[in-house]
Amino acid sequence: MTESITSVKKQHLLINGEWVEAGEYSPLRSPYSGEIIAEVPMATAAETELAIEAAVNARQEMAKMPAHRRAEILENLVHSLQERAEEAAEIIALEAAKPIATARGEVSRTIETYKFAAEEAKRIHGETLPLDAARGGENRLAYTVREPIGVIGAITPFNFPMNLVAHKVGPAIASGNTIVLKPASQTPLSSFFIAELLLEAGLPKGALNVVTGSGRVTGDKLVTDDRVSMITFTGSPAVGIGIRSKAGLKRVTLELGSNAAVIVDKDIDLDKIIPRCVTGAFAFQGQVCIALQRAYVHEDVYEEFVGKLVEETKKLVIGNPFDEQTDVSALISAGDVERTLSWIEEAKNHGAKVVAGGHAEGNILYPTIILEADAALKVSCNEVFAPIVVVNKVRNVEQAIEQVNDSRYGLQAGIYTNDVTTALNAADQLFVGGVMINDIPTFRVDNMPYGGVKESGTGREGLKYAIEEMTEMKLVVWNRN
Ligand code: SIN
Repeated sequence: MTESITSVKKQHLLINGEWVEAGEYSPLRSPYSGEIIAEVPMATAAETELAIEAAVNARQEMAKMPAHRRAEILENLVHSLQERAEEAAEIIALEAAKPIATARGEVSRTIETYKFAAEEAKRIHGETLPLDAARGGENRLAYTVREPIGVIGAITPFNFPMNLVAHKVGPAIASGNTIVLKPASQTPLSSFFIAELLLEAGLPKGALNVVTGSGRVTGDKLVTDDRVSMITFTGSPAVGIGIRSKAGLKRVTLELGSNAAVIVDKDIDLDKIIPRCVTGAFAFQGQVCIALQRAYVHEDVYEEFVGKLVEETKKLVIGNPFDEQTDVSALISAGDVERTLSWIEEAKNHGAKVVAGGHAEGNILYPTIILEADAALKVSCNEVFAPIVVVNKVRNVEQAIEQVNDSRYGLQAGIYTNDVTTALNAADQLFVGGVMINDIPTFRVDNMPYGGVKESGTGREGLKYAIEEMTEMKLVVWNRN
C-alpha cells in the first residue's frame, strides 16, 4: 500500500453488534499527505446513549461467561490479527503517519497484549482470609472474589491506535466487562478494524460498542452517564483532570502525559547508549508518553554525548510513513507543528541552543536537539509530544535526580550508571511510576505495570494490573458459630 488513496471508505458506529449509519460524518485526512482517507461518524449524545444502553444490556451475558470462553474469544482475535497483521500496520501508518516499520512493531505488540489478556482471563481470583487473626473473627470462613465492574468507557489516544486500545479492550473482555470505546478522532480506523475482528471472534452483541466523534459530545456522555462504572482514559493531563472532576463516583484510570528523562552518569559507554537515546527521543516523532524529552548528562561525558547524539540523529531518514526506510514522518496535526515550533522559538529567545533540527517541512518537524534550556521553558517543563530532546549538563547524579523530579509529571525515568549504589539510590529517589536502570525511560513491554504519579495519572495498565482496576473485590464471610 502507498499513500495514494483510491477509494474512501465510509465507516459506521458499532452499536449492539451492528454497524449503524450515523446522522453526521466528517472526513478523516492523512496527517502526512492531507488526503481524505475515510468518512468517520460524528456520534451524537443520543447515539452514544444507544451504545451505553447496548453495553448495559450485554452486562449479564459477559459477567456470566466462563473464563475459558472469554479467553477463547481473545485467542480467536489473536489468530485473525496474526493473519491480517500487514493490513493492520498499513491502517496505523495511514491514519497516524506512523512509519510502517514502527507500525508493524505496534501490531506485534498488540497481538502480544491480547495474548496476555487471554491468559489473564484464566487467573482472576480472590484469596482466603484468616479472620481469626482478629478477636471476634473466630469460626468464620472468609474469602474474596473479583467481579466485573460493569460498563467501561474507554477513551483512547492517537499515538498507539491499536495497542493502547488493546490495553483497555483486552483486560475489559478478559474480566467479563462490556465496553463503549471512543477512539481518538484522528485514529478511529484501527478501532473499527479490531471491532470487526472481535465480532468475528465470537464476542456477544453489545459487549463492545464503538462511537467516534467529538470528545466533548461522546466523551462527556460516557463520563457523566451513571450507568458507566469506570472510565479508562489515555491522553492529555488537561482532559484527564476534566474527566476526574466530572466522573462522580466512577472508577477512573488515567494514563496522562510526561516529560520523561534519562540520567547519564560518568564512565558510560556512550556508543552503546546513543542509538537507544535516539530511538527514545524520536521514534514515532516523539509522540509517545514515555519519549525521551530530557537528558541529564554528567559533565565528564556531556560534550561527547552531545556530539554523538547529533551525529546519530542526522542519520535518521525523514519522509513518507509508507517508505520502508523512514524513521520520522509527520506530526499528527498542523497545529502540533505550529505549537512545537513556537516552543522552540521561545527556547531560542531565552538563550537555548538548537544543535539539530528546529525546523519543519509540511507536517514534519525535523528531529530537534536543544541545549542549555532553562527548566521553566515549555520544551523542558511541558510534554512536547514531538521529536524534541533537551540535553542538560549536571555535576553529579544527585543533581540530576533533583532536576528529573522537578516536574509536574512522573511516568517513567531512566538512568545509565555503572555503580550499583547509584542505581539503587536513583530507584529509591526518583518520583515516577517506573525506573529503568541502564535504559531510557522509553521502555515498555505489555505485561508490566504501566502508569504514573503526579500529573502523569492514576492507576496502572499492564493486563494483570488493568484487570485489578476493572474488577470489584467482593468479600464473603460464612459464620460457622
Ligand atoms: C504511551 O504513549 O503511553 C504508550 C507507550 C507505549 O506503550 O510504548
